[in-house]
Amino acid sequence: MMTEFSDERRRSLILDYFGTDSHIRVVRHTETFGAPVFVVDFDRGLRHFRTLGSFGAGAQVTEQSSMDLLYPARLVFHYERLMSLALAMSARPVNALLLGVGGAAMWRFVRAYLPDCAPTLVDSDETIVAIARRWFHLKQPVVLDAAQRFLAATSTRYDAILVDLYGPGGPAEIDESFWARCLDALTPGGCLANNWADFTVNARVRTMAESLSTVARSRGLAPIFATRRGFRDNLVQYVPTVPEIGADAATFDGLNRVLERLVRERHIPDRGQGILENCIVSTRFPIV
Ligand SMILES: C[S@@+](CC[C@H](N)C(=O)[O-])C[C@H]1O[C@@H](n2cnc3c(N)ncnc32)[C@H](O)[C@@H]1O
Repeated sequence: MMTEFSDERRRSLILDYFGTDSHIRVVRHTETFGAPVFVVDFDRGLRHFRTLGSFGAGAQVTEQSSMDLLYPARLVFHYERLMSLALAMSARPVNALLLGVGGAAMWRFVRAYLPDCAPTLVDSDETIVAIARRWFHLKQPVVLDAAQRFLAATSTRYDAILVDLYGPGGPAEIDESFWARCLDALTPGGCLANNWADFTVNARVRTMAESLSTVARSRGLAPIFATRRGFRDNLVQYVPTVPEIGADAATFDGLNRVLERLVRERHIPDRGQGILENCIVSTRFPIV
């Protein structure tokens, strides 16, 4: 258990992972998240990054969120860029629900590139939210609650719901009733996207992704999956509620048209280059 490690040992694990010239800004214990988290600055070539990391099982360092220090609004992680496509699969993204704030990467992106979209932020861990404010430019209120409880109680409808709920042990426990509440909370024309990390090695992920597909199909909605060929890291699952948008986006060429629309309408940097490079787009849970 990571809690048995001293701060000194944790620091040395962080430096092993990010490089001895990286700069650890803070290491904090968390209540709800359930493992120590840290903020570290490091360089990769000419680029400077700040990452919110945590410790998983044993001594495993996990990256929860990252920020390009020169261009904080740009999404660093590839899966987050894939998730941003949900905003272009929503008929009119005026309000968005971001479940899992982490280092607020998606919030910075929405604020910069969709200034007419009002995001609602939900995260269960107070320390992580405080870190996002102190180290990751977060400037807006966050609902401090479990996403499951928040959704069970809300009557608000959202044009996009982006779900990225991870703890030290992997994905948050999410069942069919959670997905039903998510789909209930979408406006007609809305779109849901969920991030599945380590989807080829974590057996729970496939079951959980299939439960979202089951709930979606029971409402006549078709899930779409996208992941990078050969990386075996993250898989994004979309559920658009407009049938024509869903039917069009369910192929590589279709999702590429969604990307082109996002780039054109929202002035995404580098024309979104590389977002769909080597990606598999499928209507079934992919085997890669
Ligand atoms: C990978 S990070 C999210 C990164 C974020 N998408 C971003 O843009 O930087 C996962 C977050 O989910 C939060 N989380 C995990 N389980 C949760 C739950 N059941 N309810 C609310 N937040 C949860 C964690 O506290 C953590 O901040």
